[in-house]
This record gives sequence, C-alpha cells and structure tokens, in this order.
Amino acid sequence: MSSSDTKSITVIGSGLIGRSWAMVFASGGYRVKIYDNQPGQAAKAITEIRSQLEELEEAHMLRGELTAMQQLTLLSSYDDLAQALEGAFFVQECVFEQLEVKQSVFQDIECLVGKDVILSSSTSCLVPSNVFSKVQNRSRCLVSHPVNPPYYVKLVELIPHPETEATVMDTTHAVMTKVGQAPVRLKREIDGFALNRVQAAIIAESWRLVQGGVISVKDIDLVMSEGLGMRYAFIGPMETMHLNAPEGLEDYMKRYGEGITRVLNSFGPVPNFFGDGAESIVNEMCELIPSDQQHLSARRERRDQLLMGLAKLKKDH
Ligand SMILES: NC(=O)c1ccc[n+]([C@@H]2O[C@H](COP(=O)([O-])OP(=O)(O)OC[C@H]3O[C@@H](n4cnc5c(N)ncnc54)[C@H](O)[C@@H]3O)[C@@H](O)[C@H]2O)c1
Ligand SMILES: *[C@@H]1O[C@H](CO)[C@@H](O)[C@H](O)[C@H]1NC(C)=O
Repeated sequence: MSSSDTKSITVIGSGLIGRSWAMVFASGGYRVKIYDNQPGQAAKAITEIRSQLEELEEAHMLRGELTAMQQLTLLSSYDDLAQALEGAFFVQECVFEQLEVKQSVFQDIECLVGKDVILSSSTSCLVPSNVFSKVQNRSRCLVSHPVNPPYYVKLVELIPHPETEATVMDTTHAVMTKVGQAPVRLKREIDGFALNRVQAAIIAESWRLVQGGVISVKDIDLVMSEGLGMRYAFIGPMETMHLNAPEGLEDYMKRYGEGITRVLNSFGPVPNFFGDGAESIVNEMCELIPSDQQHLSARRERRDQLLMGLAKLKKDH
C-alpha cells in the first residue's frame, strides 16, 4: 500500500467516540485526520490511542492487518479545521451531543470540503433532518451511529436524511464493512433509530416488573445476562423465533403468536423513571454496585474485558 493512494477520513471531535472511530478507521488502513476545537486535544488523543494500540497488540486484540506502529503512522492531529479536512473523502463528526453545536460544525465543514465529500454524524439521539438543517446540500449527509465501545461492539446504524442519495448510503456501508464494523441501514429516520427503540422497550418492561414488585433488580438483570443475552450475541429475535419452532417463523407464530399478543396487551404505560417511585430501584441497584467511581470503574473494566472476549469468540465463528 503506497501512502499516496491511501484515502483520508477526517474525525471531528476527539473525545471517547472520536478516538474510537480513529482507531477503527486506521485499523482498516485509512489515513485519519483528527480535529478538535480544544487546542492540543487532538494531539492528546493520539497519545492516548498510541498506548491503547500497544496494549491491544500485546493482548493480540489489535484489529486489521497492520501493526500498531503502522496504524499509528496513519493518524495525524489538527487544531485547524481547514487543514484537517483537506483531502478527506469522508467526515465523521463526534462533537458534543448538542443540536446547535452539531448544526454549526456541519455548516463550517460544508464550506471547506468538495461537493462529493460525505458528511456523517455520530449522534445517538438527534435525527438527521435536525442535525443537517443548516447544510445546503443534504444529499451527502447521514448519521452513522456507533455503539460504545465501537472497537468491540461493531454495529453501526446508518440513518439517511430524507434527501440523502442512495450512493451515499452505499459508499458509507462499504467503508464501514471495509474497516470491519457491522453496518445496518434504516430506510428512513425515526426517533431513537432501531437500537435505542429496542433498548427502550427492554428498559421499560424491566422497570415495570421491578416497580410492580414482580422481580428484583438483580434477577431482572440475570434474565438478560444468563437468558436472552446468551443467544442474542449471535442470533437476533427474528432468527430466534425461526429456529424455535419445528417449521420456522410462521409455525412459531401459529403456536405462540396469541400468547405474545396477550402478554403485550398486559404491558403497563410508560413507567415513571423519576421521583419517589424510582428511588427504591436506584437504591436496590446501588446496594449491588455502589455508585462511587471506584466501584463503577471496576465494573466497567470487567464489562470491557468480557466484551473483548466475546468479540474474539465472534471473530472465530
Ligand atoms: N459515548 C457514547 O456511548 C456514545 C455512543 C454512540 C454515539 N455517541 C455520540 O458521539 C458523539 C460524541 O460523544 P463522546 O462521548 O465522544 O463525547 P465527548 O464529550 O467525550 O467528546 C466530544 C469531543 O468533541 C470536542 N468538541 C466539542 N465541540 C467541538 C467543535 N465545535 N468542534 C470540534 N470539536 C468539538 C470536545 O472538545 C471533545 O473532545 C455524541 O454525539 C454522542 O451522542 C456517543
Ligand atoms: C450534492 O451532493 C451530492 C452527493 O455527494 C453530489 O453528487 C452533488 O453534486 C452535490 N450537489 C451540489 C450542487 O453540490
């Protein structure tokens, strides 16, 4: 691979998600130009990425075909937006989750890039038609929503603006596939996208069951981690149903469809996540894992170690 034909991606914002994207893109062989509006922040990000890449290499968990050193040489940092954008064919924005900040960042970026450059946002909760409302040519804009930490959890939701061109979705899908992520396409924008809508449904029923005195906080988490979650790391709810009846999904619905409908009709309203009703759930959780930094960090470390192991297992199957 000669350096002259290596394509460049610009990452805007070098916080948690910006640094992860930079590592993912570099692992796929892209040159990555990192910009942050806090002077010195992008350079600091590269220092941090360096130690992460070295640790990953040591643990044999480094992604891609290149060594940690080779991936590092693909990274560069900028305090100047125009320089950071020069030569890039794809821009991944990762700034604060504030609508006005994102709108103005994209307005600035659009003035500095060629007309074919793809503008992609990492937003978790804002829909494309709001994020890109100040961009002139919205046909090249989309949201590419990662899951934290993107290095181990590979899903990326691609959400088009109503005006996004099909080729922009296709190119982004190809880029994400090339770097080893698992892209999925939403056919239109919707609040929460797909992942957070499904997650909200799980949170809501878990909360109602605990609040209704049916089950403890500890045990509802076990329902997921020792039950549903075991297979959901490999097959989704659709394939689960398809495999769980002798003759597949249609058969499954003949057998269980009525039962599912009955249960769904017994679901309560949207729970109250605040105030008195929430207090006892929060207390119950904090008795299991106190909410001080020491306990939370230890559990986060454990989570990331286990995710690393799971990513390894998935890679081998
Ligand atoms: N953290 C997550 O779990 C997660 C998951 C998926 C998506 N996201 C999304 O990713 C985005 C970034 O989140 P994060 O957790 O990395 O935040 P963060 O606070 O860690 O990082 C934000 C970075 O952006 C920089 N920044 C702020 N305004 C800027 C500007 N105008 N120009 C350039 N840089 C600017 C900040 O200096 C900071 O370094 C958000 O939209 C968030 O919703 C986060
Ligand atoms: C708008 O963006 C699309 C997709 O990148 C591009 O093909 C088109 O030429 C752009 N139009 C203008 C007027 O810049």
